[in-house]
Amino acid sequence: MLVSGMQGIILLDAVWLSVYYKAHNLKQSGIVMRMRRKPNLELRFEQCAAVLAENPEEYRGQWLKKYGQYRHLYLEIGCGKGKFTVETARSNPDTLFVAVEKVQSALVMAMERAQKNGVGNIVFIDCDAANIASVFAHGEVERIYLNFCDPWPKSRDAKFRLTAPSFLRSYADILAANGVICFKTDNTPLFTWSVGILQEEGWHLQAVTNDLHHDGPQGVMTDYEERFYQQGLPINRLEAVKTAEVKTCADGTPPRLRNAALSDARNC
Ligand SMILES: C[S@@+](CC[C@H](N)C(=O)[O-])C[C@H]1O[C@@H](n2cnc3c(N)ncnc32)[C@H](O)[C@@H]1O
Repeated sequence: MLVSGMQGIILLDAVWLSVYYKAHNLKQSGIVMRMRRKPNLELRFEQCAAVLAENPEEYRGQWLKKYGQYRHLYLEIGCGKGKFTVETARSNPDTLFVAVEKVQSALVMAMERAQKNGVGNIVFIDCDAANIASVFAHGEVERIYLNFCDPWPKSRDAKFRLTAPSFLRSYADILAANGVICFKTDNTPLFTWSVGILQEEGWHLQAVTNDLHHDGPQGVMTDYEERFYQQGLPINRLEAVKTAEVKTCADGTPPRLRNAALSDARNC
């Protein structure tokens, strides 16, 4: 493969970083591994500095102390362009919203949206959900929103689904007792699969529906949801409550997911 000078440097940088991080086990020691920021986004990120936590691991266990004016801490994973984040934060002024997104071009749009709307109770994080335990301490978060996450339909990719056991165990670690995951998706095979996994992992399910907006629009819609709603697609939703039986990272590595293909599912 031919690579240009700059591509070569970036490639070497990434390889070196991953070897270095592996050798020093930095993920476990509380340092979030971040992608190098794309040069074309640098300026837009700088202009959003007020709503971006550059070193979120420094807030671990301290979020509500550092932001003393808020009573609750909610987390949204995969916020995309931030419609849900901004509207939900605006209607919960006593709550600090932390929104995680791993795609920088989406994250910057969400940050710009929050600034444009003057919503001050949101902090954005540029990281992968796999690193979430480096950013929040045990029991620190009251609620997690997972909206329209990618289905990863192939069996071999099931571990990347944000409702896979390894993710659920790290959510269980950072959620308070009786903390809740609010999960919405248009993708029924992903929803059905997630229900099974959540039950196996010991979560209590409530408010489960396969057609959230059957009797008219309910709650704040996300960017994706609005589109699906307009197309007449039913939206699945559930709340998963953390119980004393829920498995956490302390229960070890989850078993490999076999035959986990989502027949019928499409990738977003
Ligand atoms: C299908 S989009 C939905 C966006 C938004 N929640 C909505 O409903 O409009 C899924 C989003 O999750 C983000 N995402 C997927 N896996 C992630 C991960 N492991 N960590 C952080 N964000 C992730 C993607 O980058 C993408 O923006």
